[in-house]
Amino acid sequence: MNESIDPNRLPKHIAIIMDGNGRWARSRGLPRIEGHRQGANSVEAALTACGELGIPYLTLYAFSNENWKRPKEELDFLMGLLRTYLANQTERLIKNGVRLQVIGRRDGLSPDVIDAIDQAIEKCKDGAMQTLVLAINYGSRQEIVDAVREIAFDVQQGRINIESIDESTIAKHLYTRDYPDPDLLIRTSGEMRISNFLLWQISYAELLVTSKAWPEFGKEDLYAAVAQYGKRNRRFGGI
Ligand code: FPP
Repeated sequence: MNESIDPNRLPKHIAIIMDGNGRWARSRGLPRIEGHRQGANSVEAALTACGELGIPYLTLYAFSNENWKRPKEELDFLMGLLRTYLANQTERLIKNGVRLQVIGRRDGLSPDVIDAIDQAIEKCKDGAMQTLVLAINYGSRQEIVDAVREIAFDVQQGRINIESIDESTIAKHLYTRDYPDPDLLIRTSGEMRISNFLLWQISYAELLVTSKAWPEFGKEDLYAAVAQYGKRNRRFGGI
């Protein structure tokens, strides 16, 4: 293990806003889609680094529900890339003990993407070393809306008393109900924004923004982020 990483101070869950693919490509005179293609390699690097470090949860913001505003060619490419990733990487994920999960709304995704997601989840369901959560067609406010609808329905059906609703009720109705909250949120490419990602879940996460674009974010960058996380003093509102 890297010397500056304290094995007793590892995050259990890292979430990443993978930003800067387009700018990375443009600055090299390449079409934006080349940035996404290269970004898929960084996904592998981050997942491998988490596996090496023994960090059990990695959540990646692969496609937000605002991303539909992009040009059709870029959308087609991104959806194709996700489908190919899900189809081609499954064997590797299984071999490495990676369980795959997807969060986000299914409405709006094409049937072939939904099919690729379902097949990959099913094949990787026994992975016991790591959980990779891909946020696809995800928006945190929409997630909260969906949770509120479910809770309201449960109240209507008499399954929940209004007085018993607390933080854990909300957490249990989010898409992320089965995972711990992220300890570390990384955003690449320098923007100081959360962009509707895991708003509830990152309440106490450490934030790390790097100027590197996602396509150039490698294993060593994830190691460096974890080393920095180990030096943070997390107080959770205490002193
Ligand atoms: C943000 O960069 C990135 C995305 C909207 C897509 C993320 C997708 C990948 C990394 C590709 C593959 C993912 C998987 C899981 C295989 P941007 O295009 O907004 O960059 P910009 O801000 O420079 O325009």
